[in-house]
Amino acid sequence: MLRSVNMKHLVIWGGRPLEGKVQCDGAKNAALPILAGALLTGDITTVSGVPNLADVQTMLALLSAIGADVEEYNGQVRIKTNKLVPSAPYDLVRKMRASFLVMGPLLVRCGKASMPLPGGCAIGQRPVDLHLKGFEAMGATISMDNGYIHARAPRLHGAEIYLDVPSVGATENLMGAASLAYGDTIIENAAQEPEVVDLANFLNSAGAQIKGAGTSRIRITGVRELAGTNYTIIPDRIEAATYLVAAAITAGKVLVENVIPLHLKPVLAKLHESGNTVIEGYKSVEIQGGQRLTPVNIKTLPYPGFPTDVQALFASLCSLSQGTSVISETIFENRFGYAEELRRMGASIRIEGPNAIIEGVPTLTGARVQAGDLRAGAALCIAALAAQGISYITGLEHIERGYARLPDKFRSLGARISLFDDDMDHASGFTGRG
Ligand code: UD1
Repeated sequence: MLRSVNMKHLVIWGGRPLEGKVQCDGAKNAALPILAGALLTGDITTVSGVPNLADVQTMLALLSAIGADVEEYNGQVRIKTNKLVPSAPYDLVRKMRASFLVMGPLLVRCGKASMPLPGGCAIGQRPVDLHLKGFEAMGATISMDNGYIHARAPRLHGAEIYLDVPSVGATENLMGAASLAYGDTIIENAAQEPEVVDLANFLNSAGAQIKGAGTSRIRITGVRELAGTNYTIIPDRIEAATYLVAAAITAGKVLVENVIPLHLKPVLAKLHESGNTVIEGYKSVEIQGGQRLTPVNIKTLPYPGFPTDVQALFASLCSLSQGTSVISETIFENRFGYAEELRRMGASIRIEGPNAIIEGVPTLTGARVQAGDLRAGAALCIAALAAQGISYITGLEHIERGYARLPDKFRSLGARISLFDDDMDHASGFTGRG
């Protein structure tokens, strides 16, 4: 017997190839550090191309809570910080790990900062030790009580910082703080993600002196102050990957616009290897899904390696490939939460330590599934688009953290997908209509 669905959920009638074109929004993972980086100047900062996502709303609420004036209109956000409160509220920080990115700006502008330990997607242990070690190297004193981290430094100074792992967040937090520190800072083993480069470009447009972003060695010469700036953020490569994999798994044909193909190299390589035709344009990528999907092996790595945020999407794709694929996750230790849900749809996935071993099956079937984190949610949507029959997906609050209008965009590509926001009981004969 079907169990009742009494919360916001998606219903997807699968089995139709996606066709058409779709535009990507600005990158969530660039928007969040750039909005936090706006705290580094007292002047007006205008950021364009900001996606309308739950995580962005959390960041804007956090900025307001610590004293920034925030105005938002149609993807453009205007921020002015007159007087900052160097203490971030627990209720906002626990929602999203990227909240921690305000620590560096608060510390360097106020001389002190207090932050609760951050929350975020349940994809494994996500410490902030590298952020804190970096601040300490720059002269901050760090203490902890009652779940709060306190940092103090009358004025940060430059330092040579080696990151044990190329953490995206630590690189961004330290790069921002170093922009206003006294002297030069060098970050070795820095993260090289395009979103780190975007933050550096944003800060440089405000007068910072950052060189080497996009390589493993970033040099920042501190300046006395940053000025206001107008900046447009880069397109979202993970959103782009989502539509590309959706087209591949449904054997459709989709043109994804507003992308930087260079940022998608590892993803495009694997889409090609799995039997799809991929054509890179200047700011677009077109994919024609293959009729026969070949299995692929994937190992997630820091950029320019294969992104951890895309591995769940490929798990859905590999579930319909003809043969065995292995996905190895090396960044986070608990990122296979989707496996159990994909199994409900008929996928054959075995987890062995950091590896997901996926035996391709001829068809997936619609089922009731729950998104446990953001990318797992997207992976389930994609699997449902290819599955025979109807799927019901709950846990949309995770998906909405990172995708604006996902159901609308899939619908524009011909998917049969509906968002239900009310209480309803599908056990009582719901058959589903487009
Ligand atoms: C960012 C992205 C996230 C992506 C991840 C890896 C944003 C808002 N989020 O998250 O979508 O999945 O990069 O590409 O940009 N680590 C430590 N100590 C630290 C910091 C990190 O051990 O102080 C470890 C983490 O536990 C993890 C690895 O480093 O194993 C990578 O984490 P990090 O690059 O910091 O990810 P985030 O910045 O949180």
